[in-house]
Amino acid sequence: MRAATTISLLAALGGAVAQEVYLGFNSGATTDSGATKTQDDFEKEFQAAQKLQHSPGLFNSIRLYTNIKPKTDNDPIEAFPAAVKTNTKLLLGMWCSGVGTIDNELTALEKAIEQYGKNFTDLVIGISVGSEDLYRVSESGIRNNAGKGQDAETIIAFIDSAREALKDTDLKDIPLGHIDTWTAWVNESNTDVIDRVDFVGANLFPYYEDDKGNDISNATTLFKDALNRTESAVGDKPVWITETGWPSTGPNFGQATATLENAQTYWNDVGCTLFGRRNTWYYILRDSNPDNEMKFALDPELDNKPIFNLTCPADSGAPASINNEESAAASITVSMMNTVALGLSMVFAMAAWIV
Ligand SMILES: *[C@@H]1O[C@H](CO)[C@@H](O)[C@H](O)[C@H]1NC(C)=O
Ligand SMILES: *[C@@H]1O[C@H](CO)[C@@H](O)[C@H](O)[C@H]1NC(C)=O
Ligand SMILES: *[C@@H]1O[C@H](CO)[C@@H](O)[C@H](O)[C@H]1NC(C)=O
Ligand SMILES: *[C@@H]1O[C@H](CO)[C@@H](O)[C@H](O)[C@H]1NC(C)=O
Ligand SMILES: *[C@@H]1O[C@H](CO)[C@@H](O)[C@H](O)[C@H]1NC(C)=O
Repeated sequence: MRAATTISLLAALGGAVAQEVYLGFNSGATTDSGATKTQDDFEKEFQAAQKLQHSPGLFNSIRLYTNIKPKTDNDPIEAFPAAVKTNTKLLLGMWCSGVGTIDNELTALEKAIEQYGKNFTDLVIGISVGSEDLYRVSESGIRNNAGKGQDAETIIAFIDSAREALKDTDLKDIPLGHIDTWTAWVNESNTDVIDRVDFVGANLFPYYEDDKGNDISNATTLFKDALNRTESAVGDKPVWITETGWPSTGPNFGQATATLENAQTYWNDVGCTLFGRRNTWYYILRDSNPDNEMKFALDPELDNKPIFNLTCPADSGAPASINNEESAAASITVSMMNTVALGLSMVFAMAAWIV
């Protein structure tokens, strides 16, 4: 009886203390001019993410698209040591389109586990097998010349080989998922992929929904509707918001216009309703796709001074903005709070024993 009480109390407290909502940005393997990012580039980027002025929460997670350093067969991407150095949590990605196997992705990951050990694996919070592969083979992907993709059957085979390859490594218990556009998740042709993953990564860009009345004034409605339909299709699997954002420059798309004002409106009206409550990787701190004329970067110079004021509206429910001039003091406060939480959970556990 006593033991059971303690265990359930500990479980409840452990859950409360350990439960963390991830907050971060996407990060491509190259700069916006197509150059391979070095460890130094990644370090600057990850540091800038954590030090943004008036940041509504700490952006200390990064979603990657590949484990492979560009222009190599299977060398690990230099984002890994940069993450270790900056204590950045990683949502890993394996590039699955245009390949017959994911062996090179798995080899790069195994090399990184070997080289960096727990310093690296402790930072990994999820692994996505693929990125928008199902979208690229859909009607709209083909119409938009999105390039080579993969069908559901292939993605499932790749997920199975990733599970098999990781089962004896320190990453064996890390959630394995797939990231795709929300339209791919509501497509019944892809239901088997949902059954195979631990989490669903949804990319949602009302900006690109030119068939639905995508003026910025309708962005919140389009986002909520898309997320609702995704969650309805996905059932009880967790849905992570892996890409969302609105460009500040670039060509118009339907009724959508890329302006600084609209990028900020989208941040306030959509982003600020997610941060701190849902796992979110915003698109993007720094652009990395030279082929995309729309530019989404919030801090292209990586100087901690975002292109607009990131403070969320007071009634949005987002975390209060961090004054990064005092970031050192803030991180001390956070670690003190963690210590207090740990201490409290120990006190409760002891109290349960005494009762
Ligand atoms: C892990 O980090 C510690 C502390 O920085 C360092 O001493 C150790 O060499 C690192 N281990 C590996 C395998 O890189
Ligand atoms: C649904 O998926 C199938 C198979 O990939 C694809 O052919 C079809 O175009 C998709 N439908 C839509 C509306 O995207
Ligand atoms: C806004 O989006 C909804 C949902 O897709 C759509 O039905 C509606 O026509 C759009 N409104 C405008 C003003 O374009
Ligand atoms: C989607 O919206 C409908 C109508 O508002 C609601 O009944 C349903 O619970 C929502 N589904 C999810 C998964 O949020
Ligand atoms: C950003 O907004 C906050 C809250 O309104 C304000 O305190 C701060 O001075 C603003 N910062 C800049 C750089 O405009």
